[in-house]
Amino acid sequence: MKPRPLTIAVPKGRVQKALSALFVKAGLEAAVLDVDDRRLVRESADGKLRFLLLKPDDVPTYVEFGAAEIGISGRDVLLERRYDLYQPLDLGIGRCRMVVAAPLDRATLPDVPRVATKYPRITEEHFGARGRQVEVIFVQGSVELAPLVGLADLIVDLVETGSTLRENHLGVIEEVAPISSVLVANRAAYKLRASEIAPLIAALASASKENKAAAGT
Ligand code: PRP
Repeated sequence: MKPRPLTIAVPKGRVQKALSALFVKAGLEAAVLDVDDRRLVRESADGKLRFLLLKPDDVPTYVEFGAAEIGISGRDVLLERRYDLYQPLDLGIGRCRMVVAAPLDRATLPDVPRVATKYPRITEEHFGARGRQVEVIFVQGSVELAPLVGLADLIVDLVETGSTLRENHLGVIEEVAPISSVLVANRAAYKLRASEIAPLIAALASASKENKAAAGT
């Protein structure tokens, strides 16, 4: 009987390219990740891996409920919502920073500033831990717009190259957390399919170590 492929939940978009490069470096067959089409389920040429292409925010959900054995998730998503998952490896890709930012020409902040963000829980915790009261306003995306039109005084969002902040005349006030992509695993599958998952994690760990050494990080 043909063995069942290991199912991996993969975030569509920014991280997808870095991830397929990491798989190649790890000696894993994953060329199907680079194919530019609309298929949401893709099997590797060697039949060992099956990839589910998901919105980044949905990866942990698929893994927690066992629809995928493992997945690749941004640490931002894992910090914002609590999941019952193993997190055995930081892949060192998808690196960015979560920051508090404000308009460069801002006036003094009000006593209780309004903060627009996709990450209400992280934002509450960040300001709460510093004893600062804020009003959190949830937005789904294009967060940088909020202070430009008076919706908020500050934002909490991800910064990678910094061009979105720059082009919208915003600047970083403080860092909230460094972010990168993490390999997550379903707790039951981690044990039941250990003979497939453990070597895969080992291969990815050594490939990501090589990347980190090359980048000097
Ligand atoms: C992310 C993030 C910032 C931007 C940062 O948004 O929320 O807006 O990227 O990247 P940069 O520092 O390289 O400019 P994304 O493009 O994922 O879209 P969104 O605004 O709809 O969330």
